[in-house]
Amino acid sequence: MPFPESFLQELTDRNEISEVVSGYVRLTKKSGSNLFGLCPFHSEKTPSFSVSTDRQIYHCFGCGKGGGVINFIMEIENLSYPDAVRFLARRVGLSVPEDERDENYSKRERMLSLNRDAARFFHEQLKAPAGQAARDYVKKREISGAMVTSFGLGFAPDSWSSLVDAMLARGYTKPELLSAGLARASKNGSGGIYDTFRNRLMFPVIDVRGSVIGFSGRILGEGEPKYMNSPETLVFDKSRNLFALNLAKKSKKGYIILSEGNVDVVSLHQAGFDCAVASLGTSLTPEQARLISRYTSEVVIAYDGDAAGQKAAQRAIGILEKLDLKVRVLRMTGAKDPDEFIKKFGAPAFENLLSRSENHVEYRLSELAEKYDLSVDESRIAFLKDATGVIAALPSSVSREVYAHKVGEMAKVSAEAVLSEVARARKSLISKAKKQQEREQLSPIKAQQPRERSLHFENIRSAAAEKGIISLLYYEPSLFLGEQRILAEEFSSPVLGRFYSELLSRIRSGAQPSLSALSESFTNDEISLLTEIVSQPQMLANADKALDDYINIIKTERLAAEQNTNSDSILRDFAERKRRSKGYGG
Ligand code: UTP
Ligand code: MN
Repeated sequence: MPFPESFLQELTDRNEISEVVSGYVRLTKKSGSNLFGLCPFHSEKTPSFSVSTDRQIYHCFGCGKGGGVINFIMEIENLSYPDAVRFLARRVGLSVPEDERDENYSKRERMLSLNRDAARFFHEQLKAPAGQAARDYVKKREISGAMVTSFGLGFAPDSWSSLVDAMLARGYTKPELLSAGLARASKNGSGGIYDTFRNRLMFPVIDVRGSVIGFSGRILGEGEPKYMNSPETLVFDKSRNLFALNLAKKSKKGYIILSEGNVDVVSLHQAGFDCAVASLGTSLTPEQARLISRYTSEVVIAYDGDAAGQKAAQRAIGILEKLDLKVRVLRMTGAKDPDEFIKKFGAPAFENLLSRSENHVEYRLSELAEKYDLSVDESRIAFLKDATGVIAALPSSVSREVYAHKVGEMAKVSAEAVLSEVARARKSLISKAKKQQEREQLSPIKAQQPRERSLHFENIRSAAAEKGIISLLYYEPSLFLGEQRILAEEFSSPVLGRFYSELLSRIRSGAQPSLSALSESFTNDEISLLTEIVSQPQMLANADKALDDYINIIKTERLAAEQNTNSDSILRDFAERKRRSKGYGG
């Protein structure tokens, strides 16, 4: 059962596309009614993602993704069509006409509500008499009451079933507790379940929309494992979330501090650095970096000072740089992590550290300098080779010049010598990039093909005309109200034919040709193609003449194709006869 037309209309009216997209993408540059931003669906440095407030569509010129507001939510939240509709309905407080089609949706909703209730339960336990040990631990770690509240910290009691009992009493089922990762099945085959988190300080993981998606539980004191985390569930994907981003996204600092530990984050927030986040016990993923880039353009890496932390920092730099984020790296001395540093030296000292934090070029160069013994000629040469490589990749010639001088001083050679090495390294970088680009650049014919292989056009010329017709349907529907001059079956491309017949039947029944209404009958790839078509500029001055031309082209191409197959079959017949006559003769 599709959603009613009037409901979809209201839904898309209320969910203005640029407002919805702004929740995920920083839309900045403006041209006409178009807003631009960095595409959330692929890595890029220059914005090729556009949102048209007139047409209420988005389109990325880079990766080709596009569609209406519902498609956007389907793509970015990884939701099915009905779930995306519900998501948007909830966003504007619209109630969804009752339907029980999608099990997954209600499963997700149930799991989120279970997680929220579990977080409340843990939080209460931290205040209850049984929570004394945890309260002592919180005090020992100098975590304030305000932080306990804003992070929603809690305590999982030292018991096998306190959470399970409390949640079963609230009407949740054993399978629900198991699939949320909050309980585990007993091994003795009794069918019983027990609490996953026991005797731990609980850090709820809250996504940017404010839903509790999982938990991280720290042991009170020393012991293994130090942390226990929720497993991946229907609602918890570690690689796509960051601890405390729900708080940090509201910070006015203008940058984000990326640290390693949950406790570091709490400590930083307590010291006034309310922009701190941590990846969830994994090294930074590209998805997490993209998530960060929605909220800021500058990241300060404040990882642990040990070798592992520094190595992780190098990796994180590489990932963040790709998104054109300004990256700085903090160098901590005298303490192993931000938490310890702040406790030892205080917040102002950390502020000082922040202001002295090196941009990633300086950081890399000093890392290199530490790696090589610069008093030995051979390693100086090796250092120079690595360092010129770092400098050569910098896009600005001014910064190349500045760092060339710096490296010259470090290695005690002239800046000119460094610069000429940089020039050489840069030349080879550029030629490599060019070759890569050539390889990637599509041939003109290929460029007219849909990005999605399975939608391949058999006849480019006809397909171009078919696209033209679809565009006219969209912008000049009145042209199509009279006699039907071309049938969908005459289209060379099946998918374009389907767009045509769907749009036509909507128009003829008096409805608007909206992308949102079509989303249900087409895949996301197909909708992207349709968006691309309706995003092309279209001259409407001579629309009826254009329509004539398009129809002509399609019919002629079709005729030609038929003749081809005819002549093919004549040739085949001929060959067949020849073969037979030989057979008879031989
Ligand atoms: P840390 O060991 O640095 O933890 O691990 P921490 O949060 O700074 O805690 P303190 O200050 O030592 O008490 C960094 C992060 O790695 C993940 C957690 O997310 C932790 O915050 N981790 C660590 C795990 O997932 N499992 C572990 O066993 C240890
Ligand atoms: Mn730590």
